[in-house]
Amino acid sequence: MPNKQKKLKLPKGNTLVIVGLMGAGKSCIGRNLAKYYGIPFVDADREIEEAAGCCVADIFEIYGEAEFRDGERRVIKRILEGEPCILATGGGAFMNGETRKLISQTGTSLWLKADVEVLIKRTSGRKHRPLLNKGNPANVLRKLAQERYPVYGEADIVVETKDEPLDATVKRVVATLKKLSVKDDN
Ligand code: S3P
Repeated sequence: MPNKQKKLKLPKGNTLVIVGLMGAGKSCIGRNLAKYYGIPFVDADREIEEAAGCCVADIFEIYGEAEFRDGERRVIKRILEGEPCILATGGGAFMNGETRKLISQTGTSLWLKADVEVLIKRTSGRKHRPLLNKGNPANVLRKLAQERYPVYGEADIVVETKDEPLDATVKRVVATLKKLSVKDDN
């Protein structure tokens, strides 16, 4: 594709903030979008881990979820104040009212929406997510979907992701953003 078509044009701000439940593919899709648009990719969870000097599971274990959420809010604020990028957030970030407000004021949010059964399949056998290590992960995901989907629905853009090759979802996001930028130009 010629360069001109690859410029990321967003309805709001210069950073695309990807939200959605665990297993939606926020980081994979985000990394691919960043490559496509030639801008940096930032993963909020990795930034939190770097700041804390340990992994998300250990932060939950040692400091508790409330501390993690506070760190998450601060890290996302710092990222949003920086250079334009594609930002993948952890699944709970958009549930925090302050973080959500910040995202809505400074960037464009994109919910990668998936059927919960797809997420159950994608996350099964992975052990790095503390919320899924307690109880039955499928039930945890179903409960979180019920609680969170109405809030994720406040995102500026919603794109469906299914059981399909990564590339197909990336193309769907690109097409959606392109449609929006065409609307904006008129
Ligand atoms: C969480 C999702 C995780 C991570 C933490 C909590 C959540 O990120 O931030 O384990 O509350 O949904 P991913 O959505 O990238 O797995």
